[in-house]
Amino acid sequence: AARAKKAALKLGFGSVAKHRDDKVSLPAGYQMSILHALGDPMHWGDESWKGDGSESADSYNRRIGDGHDGMYFFGLGEAGKFDAKRSDRGLLCVNHEYVVAPYALHPNGKTSGAARVASEVEKEIYAHGVSVVEVKRDAKGTGMGMVRGSRFNRRITSATTMAFAGPVKGSELVQTRFSPDGMKTRGTNNNCANGYTPWGTYLTCEENYTNVISRAAGDDAKRSAKEITGLKRYGMTDGRKSPYLWDTAGSDDLFARWNSAVTGATAGDDYRNIFNTFGWVVEIDPFNPDSTPVKRSTLGRFNHEGAWPVPAVKGQPVVIYSGDDSRNEYIYKFVSKALWDEADVNGGLAAGAKYLDEGQLYVARFNADGSGEWLELAHGKNGLDASNKLYAFADQADVLIHARLAADAVGATKMDRPEWGAVNPLNHEVYMTLTNNSNRVDPNATPTGSQLKPDAANPRYYSDSHNANGKTKVNKGNPNGHIIRWKEAGAQAATRFSWDIYLFGAEDDAAADVNLSGLTAVNDFSSPDGLYFDPRGLLWIQTDDNAYTDETNCMMLAAVPGKVGDGGKVTAAGGTETRVGAKATPDSVRRFLVGPKDCEITGIAITPDGRTMFCNIQHPGEDSKLDALSSHWPDSQTNPGSTKRPRSATMVITRTDGGPIGL
Ligand code: FEO
Ligand code: CA
Ligand code: CA
Ligand code: CA
Repeated sequence: AARAKKAALKLGFGSVAKHRDDKVSLPAGYQMSILHALGDPMHWGDESWKGDGSESADSYNRRIGDGHDGMYFFGLGEAGKFDAKRSDRGLLCVNHEYVVAPYALHPNGKTSGAARVASEVEKEIYAHGVSVVEVKRDAKGTGMGMVRGSRFNRRITSATTMAFAGPVKGSELVQTRFSPDGMKTRGTNNNCANGYTPWGTYLTCEENYTNVISRAAGDDAKRSAKEITGLKRYGMTDGRKSPYLWDTAGSDDLFARWNSAVTGATAGDDYRNIFNTFGWVVEIDPFNPDSTPVKRSTLGRFNHEGAWPVPAVKGQPVVIYSGDDSRNEYIYKFVSKALWDEADVNGGLAAGAKYLDEGQLYVARFNADGSGEWLELAHGKNGLDASNKLYAFADQADVLIHARLAADAVGATKMDRPEWGAVNPLNHEVYMTLTNNSNRVDPNATPTGSQLKPDAANPRYYSDSHNANGKTKVNKGNPNGHIIRWKEAGAQAATRFSWDIYLFGAEDDAAADVNLSGLTAVNDFSSPDGLYFDPRGLLWIQTDDNAYTDETNCMMLAAVPGKVGDGGKVTAAGGTETRVGAKATPDSVRRFLVGPKDCEITGIAITPDGRTMFCNIQHPGEDSKLDALSSHWPDSQTNPGSTKRPRSATMVITRTDGGPIGL
């Protein structure tokens, strides 16, 4: 039967002005409250967060972690099952990307010195990972609160036992002293963005795990040339010290395992392979608090920003997109072997095994003419075998663990830092933020090292000069970032696509060949990062910026996007021609929120009825010192003279009249 055509989406709020204040500002008619913040106890029996760093390390196994990032709301139905239509009660899964030491977690900030203090590192290990909490609407039906003590409330940390699944399970490249047969490992780290599955599980993604893994000096001498190639391609040079130095806190296994070096006779005697146990997509069943999270190796290993599924279609494969957030890295696509069957809703990790352990992994090539190809990363195809000159791929486990090398070998397109992706629920076109890239160089220069000339998919080269703390700072390359999008040629599993650049970040007064989307004061932004299509089809864009922060804190915008091919061709600063979407107008893109000082806005979820939004503020006051804090948020939201430590937090945003958000 023909369905009535839905009314066109229309933004229904006034644009929020840019500012540098220490508060979150929202459009008129909107309100916010804090759902949870760093250190809040999830269960009964632990004291409230005091704000002086006195909480024990162990208590962080039951407290909200730090660095709130990607998240997802799962409706909680009767008998504790996933109900995709439920908005009044749910399970909220939140990534805790990293510890914003020194100012928040420890009594006097992080202790300095060559070796870390054991009690501090233990607390940091437990403050990373994921939280799952039950949330419920209040009696008025507008606010939403955490259900303290719920049987679903759970912390997953950098010490939680996890299983390996897919081709890497049992590989000699993931054997460790903890798991000599390579079947399991411990911990998930630096969980940045995320995804969800149609069967009701959460996908958390491991991004900057090199922040916590060191490699002893002299280790190269104990490795084969092939191993060294693999380690180097992922940044693990000989003698590398991780910024967090967790491995220096003592000889206890809890700490020593953060050094990826050969110390024993075999891989089962030491932690030479710990490095290979991170960089994965991890599946968590929030409805089963006793379940063991699973590292789904079929989706490849790299700095996984997130894992974005296409709405499932009966009888079609499950398709998931992901990006590798480092300069000059790639965009990937997973296509399941199994075809979607609705009977698998609430199938938990068994459904995960069915859809995620077998399938094809592809990497994207963007051609200058607006076409693109998905290149398969399968052992024995496209030159990915032991005879490959770049790296001798032994088997599919080797291809997946070294997905970056496989992508290099097949000729994928190096991008300007792929951050979040999102799939338009109305037409299944895919969007991905390319946050910025200082390694794009003048097209007339000769690139050196990892520098790259612009190309059609990453077309801009220019300088952005701004004032930071009284000094002039010049950012070069693509300092403000852009959002690319593509449409598959036919079915979602197709291996060809067409693409354009939906939107370019820029300051409103930038030159026309920089401000290519025509942004104005109501919608100008820089460094797009978080990206989310809500169930109605509004696109939400969040920023993590360092280039425009002399004028405005990071922000979130809402957009009504068009479709691939609705713009034309332009020539970008630097002289490269590319295809673009229609120019932005105040009706198509509008600023919804501006955050507090020195934060990034990252992580968003909206209930199925569109009436409750969750949005995260990460690391307010980043890089400041305990005796000179630049932010006191969230306390500063209601207490302008606050002196409290800042905390990452999840906000609940609603309309004062209870109406649908954004429209
Ligand atoms: Fe954790 Fe790519 O941001
Ligand atoms: Ca990010
Ligand atoms: Ca970022
Ligand atoms: Ca950041």
